[in-house]
Amino acid sequence: MSKIGPNDECWCGSGKKYKRCHQSRDLLKELRTESLSPIARMASNPRQVRPGALSPMRAVPPHIVRPDYALTGKPQAARQKTVIKSADQIERMRSACRAARRVLEIAKAAVRPGITTDAIDAITHQAYIDLGGYPSTLNYHGYPKSLCTSVNEVICHGIPDSRPLEEGDIVNLDITIFIDGMHGDLSETVLVGEVDEESRRLVRVTHECMMRGIASVNPGAMIRDIGRGIQTVAEREGFGVVKAFVGHGIGEQFHMDPQVPHYYDRSQTTEMVPNMVFTIEPMINQGDYRHVMWDDRWTAVTLDLKRSAQFEHTILVTERGVEILTLPDGVAQPFAH
Ligand code: MF3
Ligand code: CO
Ligand code: CO
Repeated sequence: MSKIGPNDECWCGSGKKYKRCHQSRDLLKELRTESLSPIARMASNPRQVRPGALSPMRAVPPHIVRPDYALTGKPQAARQKTVIKSADQIERMRSACRAARRVLEIAKAAVRPGITTDAIDAITHQAYIDLGGYPSTLNYHGYPKSLCTSVNEVICHGIPDSRPLEEGDIVNLDITIFIDGMHGDLSETVLVGEVDEESRRLVRVTHECMMRGIASVNPGAMIRDIGRGIQTVAEREGFGVVKAFVGHGIGEQFHMDPQVPHYYDRSQTTEMVPNMVFTIEPMINQGDYRHVMWDDRWTAVTLDLKRSAQFEHTILVTERGVEILTLPDGVAQPFAH
């Protein structure tokens, strides 16, 4: 078959000339593949996760209070600088984070081999609404679903689709709810059936990384102390720390200052002050720390197609240390607060 010319009819069936239709997009794609590093071109994984089909966007009933981007996809207010929260804001953060935890528990209970990530989205979507909250990810910068489901080599922002979970998969469920005017954000990586020991070690160590990061939260300490702790644990275990995605301030806005790197970045000298609220959400890779993006512009996968895990809590800096806002009910705070 000969190569399509600029004046030929486009391959997509639109009836338009190729140059007026898909040519520029195809050229860009080619360029991107050529510019991938040798490691990305050599990566091979027989179980590689492939994009599935998306269901239509789910509706939210009119009585649910929406964040400012729900209609347009674009947050309207300017990005907030690091704010010290008031007692009232902190109370509302506590309730939003408690609600997020409830939704996560419902999502986790649905995980089993054979269920599609879209079916988990349907269950989760209803759970937010039953609690009176809005699924923060829905239409956030155009994101189409009510949670992120990141399977195996997917680092983060995997979109729920028609792919059934398979025995041996690991899947991160990332839940964010908007309720009482606040966002509460947390995630866990869950095992699907029997999972190999090396993946279980990755998941275990990633949780330890998050807890080490949280242990570094103290008034007077610097944001960079969090990443230093996380990186120490990950590297001790021979794993890579993702740098491209960071923790974030959270409150009336889904993402705000401060940025919280999960590796040691000496420039992050912002001091932690009581009543700051932010997330700590390390993504840890079995191999290389770098990512490539799927064509959907959301799904970030590891460059070498080895697995990646993540855990996330939203935390409050207190006078004496740290309070985890997204713990399950009845679980004691692990650090001084
Ligand atoms: N919940 C994710 C976080 O931890 C953000 C998801 S934004 C989305 O920050 F648009 F990708 F859904
Ligand atoms: Co999250
Ligand atoms: Co987050």
